Amino acid sequence: MREMLIRGRVLWFLRRPESRDDLAACSYDEDGAVLMRDGLIVQAGAYDRVSQVAGENAAVIDHRPHLILPGFIDAHVHMPQMQVIASYGTELLDWLNTYTFPEESKFRDAQHGRRIARLFLDESIRHGTTTVAAYCSVHKSSAEAFFEEASARNMVVIAGKVMMDRNAPDAVLDTAQTAYDDSKALIETWHNRGRQRYAITPRFALTSTPEQLEAAGALAREYSDCHVQTHLSENHAEIAETMALYPGLQDYTAIYEHYGLTGPKSLFGHCIHLSEREADALSDSGSVAVFCPTSNLFLGSGLFAYHRYNRREKPLRVAVASDVGGGTNYSLLRTMDEAYKVIALQGEKLNPLASFWQITRGNAEALSISDHVGTLDAGTDADLVVLDAAATPTMALRKETIGSLADELFLLQTLGDDRAVREVYVAGKATKSPF
Ligand code: GUN
Ligand code: ZN
Repeated sequence: MREMLIRGRVLWFLRRPESRDDLAACSYDEDGAVLMRDGLIVQAGAYDRVSQVAGENAAVIDHRPHLILPGFIDAHVHMPQMQVIASYGTELLDWLNTYTFPEESKFRDAQHGRRIARLFLDESIRHGTTTVAAYCSVHKSSAEAFFEEASARNMVVIAGKVMMDRNAPDAVLDTAQTAYDDSKALIETWHNRGRQRYAITPRFALTSTPEQLEAAGALAREYSDCHVQTHLSENHAEIAETMALYPGLQDYTAIYEHYGLTGPKSLFGHCIHLSEREADALSDSGSVAVFCPTSNLFLGSGLFAYHRYNRREKPLRVAVASDVGGGTNYSLLRTMDEAYKVIALQGEKLNPLASFWQITRGNAEALSISDHVGTLDAGTDADLVVLDAAATPTMALRKETIGSLADELFLLQTLGDDRAVREVYVAGKATKSPF
């Protein structure tokens, strides 16, 4: 593949920024460049230095004055909910029964699954998201379509077929055995094929029998390199119904512990109403709590204790995610705007450098994929987003008064969305312009 040198204001993160002026946590070059070859980053940093390394035939693309960052990473999102997003008036359990399960039933039709998988990945990329941890539907074909489409785009994805064998309409149920067999077949075909990874995906304890969670645990033991993704402690009614189904276990987290589903590759969506014991158990096992602010506000689920989880004696590993279609936007800029407000309602602030760390390197670390994505380190995958902080008249006017990088990022997060995304590179390939 031909070398490509892209020029712009280049930013990525070396560690979590502690404050708005913690520029030591960033690598930032006002006149910067990224050199890419064969889908990988050869070098990123100051234009003067990086351009020296470029070969004579390198294509040069000038994105100045825009910002070039690692592509965004969405740590929890539902592919089959593209036509659920923006459904009115319910909390979690009614929302699942009224809108979500009927919609996911349509994925019995493999053609529908293929169409939505294609549109989902295109829409993610269009919003600057280059990696997702995604739930497919219960139907094996939906996961096959998803992996095929992700593979065609050469995206890093973590995904799995949902396992669910009770408390939902027949059209979205499998059994403990078929969930095991189908997941295993998908793992054998797709896990670590190209840039694809498999996540063992029991939807949540409420829709899985003990036998099915046992099967999920067996898969997690057999394929310890795979992720596990599920939901935990999102809503009070959910917690009460779940505990009634697992009467011998002390709390919701104990259910997943009991079946061997906690661990450093386990991603737990929501984690809003955890007890201290549960937070300790997640921390001790290295599990990840996934904060989904637009969803938590939209469904009225509660406020994720972002700073408290980070600062406790046993801190939690935390990722942030859209949770579309409970979540209301594919954009991780919109997501961090809502995260800021959730944190503000708890009397605290999230500094904008930390926000952008979170949706790039922070999420990559939480998903254990930071060797490949989330930074612009040499040798990592060339997944990039190019952002324009003056993309709308409102943004352009406010930008006139902005002096610091942190304030520019805060403007992007507060006012930005897909309109601020000028270009997205996936494995070194521009997805908007025809390069
Ligand atoms: N809990 C179980 N399934 C879901 C889902 O699809 N979305 C959300 N937000 N919570 C869930
Ligand atoms: Zn979810």
